[in-house]
Amino acid sequence: MTNNNPIGVFDSGIGGTSIWNAIHELLPNEKTIYLADSKNAPYGQRTKEEIVSLSKKNVDFLISMNCKLIVVACNTATTNAIRELRAAYDIPFVGIEPAIKPAAINSKTQTIGILATKGTLNSELFNKTAEMFQDTTIIEQVGHGLVQLIEDGNLNSPEMTQLLETYLQPMIDANIDYLVLGCSHYPYLIPQIKKILPEHIHIIDSGEAVARQTQTLLREKVGFSDTAIEEPVFYTNANPAVLSAILDHKYAVTEKDF
Ligand code: SIN
Repeated sequence: MTNNNPIGVFDSGIGGTSIWNAIHELLPNEKTIYLADSKNAPYGQRTKEEIVSLSKKNVDFLISMNCKLIVVACNTATTNAIRELRAAYDIPFVGIEPAIKPAAINSKTQTIGILATKGTLNSELFNKTAEMFQDTTIIEQVGHGLVQLIEDGNLNSPEMTQLLETYLQPMIDANIDYLVLGCSHYPYLIPQIKKILPEHIHIIDSGEAVARQTQTLLREKVGFSDTAIEEPVFYTNANPAVLSAILDHKYAVTEKDF
């Protein structure tokens, strides 16, 4: 099956590029359109109704660009809005959920940590998943302030280090052996997190799993592209310099009020 339309990817901001990277690496022939709704970030502090409405606005834009499949590269939007999106639109969606399952299954201390937004940790979808692992102690921590610092371009600031130390120390003390990054912005913090965590603690993010699921849906339902490789397209409704910097200035970024 062939389908040369683009894959749409959206996030509340620039963090979903961590997921986009995994998709682009696995599916380099696919054209992609990335939408960073940075003007409305962070989603994690918003109500479910707001998250659903913002997610629909992003989806409308990507559908107007003829996307064949949409990746919700935001844990908060997935856990709060993917059910509503699937009900409202006739297009396949891939979502990103915190990788609780592999962490719980592989944990030897039966204690895992999860760092995510308030919106994700309060969501029904997250809580139902967590309930499936009653034998595992899950230390939940809201990453207050982390998304905003990343969106402001303050990835390596002393403030970031201080927040991470505050959030991670109780998990280390509780003897976690897996840390789940439950927000698509957080993979960009892995270098700093590794400086704080003892080496035996594994860090799990969901990028590869999302890319594999996207590939499966293209194979089974949507179709792969068979045209020459095209440059990915990036849109943001806030400062384009921040999105460009997280992409190492490799791609053009267009500012657009969507
Ligand atoms: C946020 O917008 O608060 C974070 C995005 C995410 O949950 O992945």
